[in-house]
Amino acid sequence: MSAKRNGKIIRLLAGCIIALALGSRSPASQGMGAGYFPNIPLTTHEGEKVLFYDDLVAGKTVAINFIFTSCPDSCPAETAKLVRVQQELGDRVGQDIFMYSISIDPEYDTPEVLKAYREKFGIKPGWTFLTGDEDDIILLRKKLGLYLEDIQNEDNDHNLTFIVGNDNTGKWIKRSPFDNPKLLANLIGYDLFGGQIFRKNAKSYANVPDAPKLSKGEYLFRTRCESCHTIGGGETELGPDLAGVTDRREPAWLTRWLREPDKMLEEGDPTALQLFEQYRQIAMPNLRLEEEEIAALIDHIQLESRRLVSRPLAAATSDGGDLNTASQ
Ligand code: HEC
Repeated sequence: MSAKRNGKIIRLLAGCIIALALGSRSPASQGMGAGYFPNIPLTTHEGEKVLFYDDLVAGKTVAINFIFTSCPDSCPAETAKLVRVQQELGDRVGQDIFMYSISIDPEYDTPEVLKAYREKFGIKPGWTFLTGDEDDIILLRKKLGLYLEDIQNEDNDHNLTFIVGNDNTGKWIKRSPFDNPKLLANLIGYDLFGGQIFRKNAKSYANVPDAPKLSKGEYLFRTRCESCHTIGGGETELGPDLAGVTDRREPAWLTRWLREPDKMLEEGDPTALQLFEQYRQIAMPNLRLEEEEIAALIDHIQLESRRLVSRPLAAATSDGGDLNTASQ
């Protein structure tokens, strides 16, 4: 039995995928809704019977991920990340945002097992764990675009992907696991609401990041770049500090880099190659930015860089003055 179970865990690992339901930009993903999602029956960690579309998604903004509780590493890491997302969103979760974790190993993950797992992570109300029929759940993953036949095998290199969606607008976005919890919270609590916060109860929005006050460039930077870059805060573990990059690089190079860093690397652009050598841990992703987004980002980086120059170095770093000791 344990060999069978091990084989199954390997298969599940390959498919351990995070999906968060939210709003999308891609026209192909529009038009989901009642007719699109399979209205499969599921059982909550409290033993309550629900229907996927009618009870969980209809009229809501939702974050859905697929897990299995016996998953050794990646699922717990993603669950821990989502715990931070829930913290960021505060008591909006359960009010206008709903989080769901659906088991892809329903045979093992009974409501009792899910309940214990949920408690282990200290998960608060508004985030429901669900189990159901294995074939139904596979169908659901296929419909969400998160069931990849070619990774349902021994390959542990699973594709962790988020999908976030708002049933009212019919838009869904898949996110990459590079995103940090703040970014995801921003995406769910702000982007998914079309950039508007619907105030049902002002108190419940206390924890929402102050995104509405940001310029377009700053908002983009915070949500798309900040998990890997700072401007004047020193290097992050993932990417170079961007202070002064608008002076350091040719405008045409910079614009193209933001549009298609992957292509430049592929073509052997010398600067791209040199950067890649230096930061070999990770390649700058192609973030599918539009021209005006690129322009707004460059403006923002330039503005922030100038601000840095015009104020004392020590004040530029809130985290202990790393800049003073950074090699120049
Ligand atoms: C997943 C991490 C990651 C994200 C997200 C990311 N970058 Fe990068 N970026 C990198 C890495 C790593 C490099 C270094 C080059 C390489 O290894 O590909 C880099 C390089 C750069 C450079 C060139 C720096 C130089 O010295 O010339 C710029 C400019 C840049 N990124 C801007 C951005 C902007 C703007 C965003 C958001 C829209 C962004 N990056 C998002 C990882 C990231």
